Amino acid sequence: MTELNRNFIAALNRKTQKTPPIWIMRQAGRYLPEYRKVRSNFKNFLDMCKTPEICCELVLQPIERYDFDAAIIFSDILTIPDALGLGVSFLEGKGPIFSNPIKRPEDISNMANFNPDSLDYVYKTAELTRKELNPSIPLIGFAGSPWTLAAYSIEGSSSKNFDLTKSFIENHSDDAHKFLDILADACFEYLKRQIISGVDAIQIFDSWANLLSEEQYLEYSLKYIKKILKKLSEDPITSKTPTIVFARDPKCTLNEFKLDNLSCYGMFTSIDPRSAISVFEGTHALQGNLDPKILLEEDSVIKESVLKMLSEFKDFPGYIFNLGHGITPDINPDKVKVLVEAIREAGS
Ligand code: CP3
Repeated sequence: MTELNRNFIAALNRKTQKTPPIWIMRQAGRYLPEYRKVRSNFKNFLDMCKTPEICCELVLQPIERYDFDAAIIFSDILTIPDALGLGVSFLEGKGPIFSNPIKRPEDISNMANFNPDSLDYVYKTAELTRKELNPSIPLIGFAGSPWTLAAYSIEGSSSKNFDLTKSFIENHSDDAHKFLDILADACFEYLKRQIISGVDAIQIFDSWANLLSEEQYLEYSLKYIKKILKKLSEDPITSKTPTIVFARDPKCTLNEFKLDNLSCYGMFTSIDPRSAISVFEGTHALQGNLDPKILLEEDSVIKESVLKMLSEFKDFPGYIFNLGHGITPDINPDKVKVLVEAIREAGS
């Protein structure tokens, strides 16, 4: 087997490097014209996710354009709720809509058991992509955190405040925990199958971490992320695969993320690099966290911001360059080129 990317896996193993590896969250997506062209052939986004040949092509698009140091499976975090029978679809410009959301505690006990085979299309994407992708480039698999999956499943769609979800956990705390436990087990099985199918690292996205108070965060989210990490570390098939956790603006301290069985902490935009360095140096790698909005600025501003970031992490053992959240559809793809070149020029 060809040695995996010099940079990305080495960084996850906390090696200091002159040029940090770079990939960006949501690197395959609507900001790319070649993505929009493929996307126009599908009415429902999830139907596209269920077509492995197409997903493989979408994974490769940003790699071909920018020569990123890691690729990420093309899929979505909402495949698990869909497999649980909650009926997920994505309507034009509206985001996800659930036809059978979790409205009452009974909906949890009546839910279908999670059958990892029902997400075969994702493992096929992983297998096919691993075959097509340059063997030296690592492939990242992913899942949503149980809390983030529960929030969408209860709310039934995206929402500003997720009021239905907040009242569900207040009024039915035990049932919420039952649901989160089911989701954590499903995430473990799902990630394990992705690893068996060829992914080289995994990332857990806790995109709705920001909805919870510190105390609630530990109880409803972090507890279940820890459960997944523990199960991955105890299974001989998954124990060696590096792990990344990204949480959007969590209200707990950085110290709470110094988790056993975690390789790398993914910093949201608001995290101060110096604070993260002081907490994670020597125990975890760090990934992030350029504000995606910087990509709307002039090239000189992008270059300046990159240099500032690189100087913060210059001596940090295990730094991976990324944005502090996913890239948005309004970004001009040329700006990503400016970003990538600035990083590589600085290190050369
Ligand atoms: O390169 C990649 O990262 C592509 C793979 C990927 C997608 N979604 C494809 C996608 C990944 C890793 C995700 C994760 C995901 N999905 C998250 C976590 C990351 C984050 O940004 O916090 C979340 C919260 C979702 C749920 C989701 N999927 C929403 C809310 C939406 C609609 C609005 C939006 O943010 O785009 C999606 C749809 C989606 N998932 C698109 C893509 C490319 C756009 C769909 C389209 O083309 O119509």
